[in-house]
Amino acid sequence: MNTGLLIAFEGIDGTGKSTQLPLLAAYLRRQGCVVVETREPTSGPYGQQIRALYQNRNQVSPEQELDLFLLDRRQHVAECILPALAQGAIVLTDRYYFSTAAYQGAAGCDPATIFARHDFAPEPDLVLLLTQTPVESVARIRDLRGEKLNDFEQQEQLEKVAALFASFPHGCIVRIHAARPVAEVHSSIREAILQLLVTKGVRCS
Ligand code: TYD
Repeated sequence: MNTGLLIAFEGIDGTGKSTQLPLLAAYLRRQGCVVVETREPTSGPYGQQIRALYQNRNQVSPEQELDLFLLDRRQHVAECILPALAQGAIVLTDRYYFSTAAYQGAAGCDPATIFARHDFAPEPDLVLLLTQTPVESVARIRDLRGEKLNDFEQQEQLEKVAALFASFPHGCIVRIHAARPVAEVHSSIREAILQLLVTKGVRCS
């Protein structure tokens, strides 16, 4: 394989991105692909600052929060995504700039401006947008994970975030219905990937 591919998993909290991403990575590796799994917020200095804000978002303004996500992403793109693509890897990222447009958009920033501030970030070849209702997400997070919702995960906020995700017109987005058994969702994801590999003429082995 001589060309890298960038695939982003997106969607509101609780849609199963972090379950589905490793399943896809394992599948692609079985096909002989070189895969890099990564995520945002990263574990770098800006990502750590963002995680520290999870429990108390009011410490910073939406604009300051947006700046932190942009700094984290700049570093992620420069240090991880671009080098991996240059080596011909398939990069799977758990969240990318569509999350910023949706979440910081829901917090009051302008989504079009957010997209425009990402001229440094390569456009993904495919965005797997996992969809389900915020009610389903909240139930999953509470019942299955036994987690308390953090500030990012309040249902009212999720409604706004979901509406923004639903409004994005980008041609690279494939919507995958996520309120189904893991294996069914995985199989829809595989279908989308196989179509991408054919369209791009990519062969892993
Ligand atoms: P999440 O993927 O849920 O990470 P974790 O599983 O480690 O909690 O992301 C954390 C939160 O950050 C999530 O609620 C969405 C939010 N977020 C933004 O608001 N903007 C962004 O640009 C990104 C990448 C995430």
